[in-house]
Amino acid sequence: PLKTVAKMLALASVFATSFNVFAAPVEIKFSHVVAENTPKGQMALKFKELVEQRLPGEYTVSVFPNSQLFGDNNELAALLLNDVQFVAPSLSKFERYTKRLQVFDLPFLFNDMDAVNRFQQGEAGQALLNSMSRKGIVGLGYLHNGMKQFTANTPLKQPSDAKGLKFRVMASDVLAAQFDAVGAIPVKKPFSEVFTLLQTRAIDGQENTWSNTYSQKFYEVQSHITESNHGVLDYMVVTSDAFWKSLPADKRKVIKEALDESIALGNKIAAEKDNEDKQLILDSKLSQLVTLSPAERQQWVDVMKPVWSKFEDQVGKDVIEAAVAANK
Ligand code: LMR
Repeated sequence: PLKTVAKMLALASVFATSFNVFAAPVEIKFSHVVAENTPKGQMALKFKELVEQRLPGEYTVSVFPNSQLFGDNNELAALLLNDVQFVAPSLSKFERYTKRLQVFDLPFLFNDMDAVNRFQQGEAGQALLNSMSRKGIVGLGYLHNGMKQFTANTPLKQPSDAKGLKFRVMASDVLAAQFDAVGAIPVKKPFSEVFTLLQTRAIDGQENTWSNTYSQKFYEVQSHITESNHGVLDYMVVTSDAFWKSLPADKRKVIKEALDESIALGNKIAAEKDNEDKQLILDSKLSQLVTLSPAERQQWVDVMKPVWSKFEDQVGKDVIEAAVAANK
């Protein structure tokens, strides 16, 4: 009799799946490497809320923050294996799939986040969303975090202050070249390891946004933060071509709209956190702010900007020109 029951249950489940009765909702996994109290963390949670509200019982979204499921070294590979359906790596982390996005890493290219936004929303920026289509990666939109600052255990005023120091960088040859240019030693490491590397003094510094420096507590293990605004840290929300095409057109539309709305919220939070998290760090008094005079900042520009020409062929002159033009 047990066998019969088992058979009946099996039949019922086949019936349920084929006729979509009692079928379990499709699980969409969204993995990222930052904390929940960040622009990307909040954006992912909003996406979950909207998808589950609008496609109840049909789709669920599981969000995995803090490199819990996949980290910098494997999230894009996992996406292509369909082990995860959405990731939003920083634009510096796509180098293995396209060199074009390295435009975002060129030091002192964008004056501010408004310029970054204009470039992303313009023709060249929108075309870059499709720059990995031959690799099976679909770019669905840009998400902001903010401008990057240098942190270290010493005040960085002039480029020579960075000489010989080890800085963690994301896996980007442009970012490595940027530190080479000042005689520093770039060390490519995943985000999840940065705090420990700083705490144990295995590295001397890093570059990041106010939001990441706050939410990862980097400021607790770095004595100084130089407000350099030398580069941008933004994201591309991506899915795989295979997963995206597997969705029925009407569901895909709902999911894309939910994503666009979540990104809009994430961008709003990014702008707010940029100020708030900076203030929280300053209030903590654990890390001192180093500001640069225009002349001091110009020294960094002069030393780092030659990096552009090294990558001009890979990135594309047209792309760089469009980015420069976005400064207006
Ligand atoms: C980093 O690795 O420093 C950042 O890209 C982390 C993130 O996703 O904001």
